Amino acid sequence: MFGSKGIVGLDIGSSYIKAVQLKETRSGYELELFDSLPISPELIVEGSIIDAIRVTESLRELVRKAKIKSKDAVIAISGHSSVIIKRISLPEMSEEELSESIKFEAEQYVPFDIEDVNLDFQILGPKEEPGQMDVILVAVKKEVINDYVSVVKEAGLNTAIVDVDAFALENMYGINYEIEAGKNVALVNIGASTINMNILKGGVSVFTRDSSVGSNVHTDALQKEFSISYEEAERLKRGEPVEKVRPEDAYSLIMNSSSDIFGEVTRSVDYFRSSTLQAEVAEVILSGGCALIKGFPDALSEKIGIPVRPAEPFRNITIPKKFDLSNIEESAPIAAIAVGLATRRLGDR
Ligand SMILES: Nc1ncnc2c1ncn2[C@@H]1O[C@H](COP(=O)(O)OP(=O)(O)OP(=O)(O)O)[C@@H](O)[C@H]1O
Ligand SMILES: [Mg+2]
Repeated sequence: MFGSKGIVGLDIGSSYIKAVQLKETRSGYELELFDSLPISPELIVEGSIIDAIRVTESLRELVRKAKIKSKDAVIAISGHSSVIIKRISLPEMSEEELSESIKFEAEQYVPFDIEDVNLDFQILGPKEEPGQMDVILVAVKKEVINDYVSVVKEAGLNTAIVDVDAFALENMYGINYEIEAGKNVALVNIGASTINMNILKGGVSVFTRDSSVGSNVHTDALQKEFSISYEEAERLKRGEPVEKVRPEDAYSLIMNSSSDIFGEVTRSVDYFRSSTLQAEVAEVILSGGCALIKGFPDALSEKIGIPVRPAEPFRNITIPKKFDLSNIEESAPIAAIAVGLATRRLGDR
């Protein structure tokens, strides 16, 4: 709705495309646009675009429906088969020096041909060991980036920035939550086919992981158990009625088919705990469509023994009266990554 020029955050998921645009005001951020469009689940698989023509059509439809006026977009790539994020230790050097040697340094950490990836890094500052520094290394497959950039272009937009889902979550958190030193917070985004995790220690990312499991396990289970279509299963997940299926049966099936998701989050939290001096995770901020499934956040919390709060990506964002506030609040967790993308500025790396 009501787009203007500026930069639009486009979260191109495998089941929904989300668009968010923000305006920076003197007192903070104001919402300019938030909209989404479902897409067929076979168009994007494991983070790769399978059917570029139909993804382009959907993007165009969203641009029209949401009245996106912006010509510049920020997009994100995710998935363990396309993105590598590693925290590495290197001898201290300047940003310029690292720019020149990053390819060489990255080679041993990236399981793909180094010529096939775009590399980026962030120096996190010195380590305890003298002469060493911590660096976050990011490698994204060029082919995957090119595919996304080209559908965005076909839809009439220029890709100004390519980000990574895990970092977009971090930016969403940064503008909406108070950062407490020493507190470990797990940002967990569970979409249809992917889980993105980013654990922050005092607001700084210390662990990231993407895995290819998501709420499609629920859709599949519902379709099989009740012999219904994809659309009907999606309706059940949203709590809408479907003929011949009792809501409580749908609910228990959803909970009973969540074990892969629970397992994935548990494994990551356990790994983090064991690898960083018994550090406990104080809370999980849950985003993505899975956060909208009734009872899911509580069930996850019970499983992992950590409080789980649905993400509030609009917490610190002023929402003008022209928007339907209750509508936005209801679906807010699904906007988390798009909000994080929308905070990026033209000219950012
Ligand atoms: N209101 C809702 N209630 C319950 N489930 C919902 C709701 N809205 C969306 N979902 C579910 O959430 C999922 C979509 O979430 P999201 O948009 O975060 O995923 P995505 O970004 O498309 O997927 P991915 O990032 O894994 O490719 C779908 O499985 C959908 O069924
Ligand atoms: Mg997603």
